[in-house]
Amino acid sequence: MEIIIQPGPKAGSEIAARIIGRLLREKPDAVLGLATGSTPLLLYGELVRLHREERLDFSRVTTFNLDEYVGLPPDHPQSYQTFMRENLFHHINVPKERIHIPDGMAQDIPSFCREYEERIRAAGGIDLQVLGIGTDGHIGFNEPLSSLASRTRIKTLTEQTRRDNARHFGNEGQVPHHVITMGIGTIMDSRMCLMLAFGLKKAQAVAGAVEGPITAMNPASILQMHPVAKIVLDEAAAQRLIKVDYYRWVYDHKPPWQRF
Ligand code: PGA
Repeated sequence: MEIIIQPGPKAGSEIAARIIGRLLREKPDAVLGLATGSTPLLLYGELVRLHREERLDFSRVTTFNLDEYVGLPPDHPQSYQTFMRENLFHHINVPKERIHIPDGMAQDIPSFCREYEERIRAAGGIDLQVLGIGTDGHIGFNEPLSSLASRTRIKTLTEQTRRDNARHFGNEGQVPHHVITMGIGTIMDSRMCLMLAFGLKKAQAVAGAVEGPITAMNPASILQMHPVAKIVLDEAAAQRLIKVDYYRWVYDHKPPWQRF
């Protein structure tokens, strides 16, 4: 794991955008795994800026989103289809036919999930997966005790996650109970994981994920097993880490060819 601690979410998001920008310049037809939620908003804003001002090209990129609420149609204001359209896809040149988001309205969810996995495989696998982390340690919507080998499937949200996400829906009663999410095994198959976490309320989940034991109680802790996992934090989210001085030293002394 590489732990990158920045003064705030803006600086962290700029680094994450540079990591993605570098990948796209090296591999213009890269496959990106994308996340939703408050965390990647600044990152997507920065990618849009790079597209507009530095001609970062998405015309050959393929995308797969992590998850979607079951029962929300694509044009629902809180669907992740709407989120991605408004915050990223509408502002960059990724072709519509290369965008994949789980279908919350799928009639046959198990076969939809198998097909989603097959599409990821057919695209050559995910080069870089963007991740947030839930206050309970979830990645995607893989809640605590999700199998660490799981594939794309339906999951039931914890009350904690439904409470956390109620701010988007007006009240908790409106938050769906079920979601389709890439599995932890699916996420771990990607060639690079780029997890972002900002704010004090993520500090405990981050400490468990980075320095705790690998456990399904904190699904993000599986990233300790990933060969290329970069964790971008602001000071608040890093507050409970023990080896924080070491992480800073490593980052500050990277050889020039490793810098973003
Ligand atoms: P947030 O959600 O970015 O809205 O905090 C993160 C997550 O649930 O993965």
